[in-house]
Amino acid sequence: MCGIVGYYGPRAPKDVILDGLKRLEYRGYDSAGVAILHDGEFKRVRASGKLSELAKKLEGEPFGGRLGIGHTRWATHGVPSERNAHPHKVEGVSLVHNGIIENYQEIREELRSSGAEFTSDTDSELVAHLLAREVRGTNDLFAAVQGVIPKLKGAYSILAVWEKQPEVLVAFKNGPPLVLGVGDGEIVVASDVQAIVSYTNKIVYLEDFEIALVQGASYGVYSDKGEPLRKPVHTLNWNADAVEKAGFRHFMLKEIYEQPRAVAQAIAPHVDLDRMTVRLAGVGMDVPYDRLEAVDALKDSENTAERLSLVERVFVIACGTSFYAGQVAKYLIESLAKVPVETDIASEFRYREPVIPPRSLVVVISQSGETADTLAALRLAKRAGAMTLSICNVRRSSIDREAQGHLYMNSGAEIGVASTKAFVSTLALVNLFSLFLARARGGITADQERRHLEALLATPAQMEAVLSYDKWFAEAAERLKGYRGVLYMARGVNFPIAMEGALKLKELAYMHAEGYAAGEMKHGPLALIDERMLIVMVAPTDQHYEKTLSNLEEARARGGHIISLGTGDNQELKRLSRYYLSLPKAEWTVNPILAVIPLQLLAYHVADNLGHDVDQPRNLAKSVTVE
Ligand code: F6R
Repeated sequence: MCGIVGYYGPRAPKDVILDGLKRLEYRGYDSAGVAILHDGEFKRVRASGKLSELAKKLEGEPFGGRLGIGHTRWATHGVPSERNAHPHKVEGVSLVHNGIIENYQEIREELRSSGAEFTSDTDSELVAHLLAREVRGTNDLFAAVQGVIPKLKGAYSILAVWEKQPEVLVAFKNGPPLVLGVGDGEIVVASDVQAIVSYTNKIVYLEDFEIALVQGASYGVYSDKGEPLRKPVHTLNWNADAVEKAGFRHFMLKEIYEQPRAVAQAIAPHVDLDRMTVRLAGVGMDVPYDRLEAVDALKDSENTAERLSLVERVFVIACGTSFYAGQVAKYLIESLAKVPVETDIASEFRYREPVIPPRSLVVVISQSGETADTLAALRLAKRAGAMTLSICNVRRSSIDREAQGHLYMNSGAEIGVASTKAFVSTLALVNLFSLFLARARGGITADQERRHLEALLATPAQMEAVLSYDKWFAEAAERLKGYRGVLYMARGVNFPIAMEGALKLKELAYMHAEGYAAGEMKHGPLALIDERMLIVMVAPTDQHYEKTLSNLEEARARGGHIISLGTGDNQELKRLSRYYLSLPKAEWTVNPILAVIPLQLLAYHVADNLGHDVDQPRNLAKSVTVE
């Protein structure tokens, strides 16, 4: 989704803004632009396509001023084109916008009837018109932003500058994230800290309905009513190096290789190695939560374990890849902790009027912590009085800030649009969470906990071994890309991995792929199978193995070409499959972490071989801040 960067300071705003937008490229975009102060006016340069197009246009452009704003656009209203690119400029007011103005038609009609003429098809331009009209009366940009806010419906974050106040930048957040980086004599405002970390690690997170007023190198944050707010300044421990490719061809490949470390980092804070027990350190469920009045027993509990032991139902809510991690959680929690679990896609959950009984725990999973539907689902769960727990990668993101309890993926910055390391970190966390819940409810013995924990602690090393398939897929990609489609199949806890494998191939290679529960094959998908269809069967040696094997026989009998993933040197699978990939022997609980790696590599290499942009697949965005 769109990326926003604004800068005031002694460096060339053009360079800081372009660099920031580059670091936000992962969010997905189709055009870009800047408006930078020069000789008393904000000079606007925009380009359709990649940032390199904008950079070309900016070459040699002199900009004398210290203030500027920039934007990468991900089209919602109006096709991707230069005329629809931001900043939008109306009578000296320049504006960039992230989000959607829902009462767009109404505002457009109103502006048109009062004589406005439009130069784009966007909802964003309308906000620039409203601001230009307002500032005529207020003669002050901050007051004009305050005046326009009540007229807008939807989720929208904006940065605005005005030629008559050439040292002033106003930022407003309602929905899509905005953060302020406070440097020495300079301020950067952006959609994500990644655009800021090269300049400062001092960060102020704006909340919804807060306005930041940057005046030269100083800033203040205010409510939309104009009351000054005291906002904490957080010190980040990330650095700019963490967001470089480090010699890999793509961020995605680098992130696939970082997965063993990501899993180790996710596990580390939560394991007591002396006692071999899970401790869920700092999860925060024991902190009183003001919406728990309906759940008195939970409110009275002293600590996280006690609270969780009272949970009678778990909901796991997320989107996309995070949703598949949630489905793995269902298998683990129900099997280990014996608590019923419902999983739901956030965009469905938030609108299906879910029944959330007392003593429910709602777990929301989101790498970015900004996914609009997941955030809305979390808010719904809180209104219903549920306990809430977030699993996020980005600390202090909206979802992290609003949930009661927190688990962190600790994967480090994930830049590739297709999620990889955050997914495996989440699988590690849901392993730990299931064990913790099981222990809290007396569902497993200390010995069982130890066995599962040992298996989890062994996974980073086992993952390293599975990464060696990188070379195999690089070589096989040429052959694999020729198939008409790919059916991924598995049973039990690996079924969500089949769906994740299919999603990866769809989004990266733009090939048709489906993930199926292997037992469902004869209820329809078997009809698809012939020699042009590739079957990827995830069949580790677990309690479902024999049944999965029968499904494999059925697929083979219909002429399907099979890649199977099994445990160790499995002769049966070798006989039945065109290609056999061996996974290390592991507990069923951690098999998904190992099995997903070859599926990620398959999608990566086929997509790369087809010449696709692996890090930024078409039409997709990393942080989906609109519904
Ligand atoms: C697919 C992918 C997406 C995200 C989804 C949710 O590879 O990355 O499906 O998983 O958009 O994003 P988060 O986890 O940020 O809420």
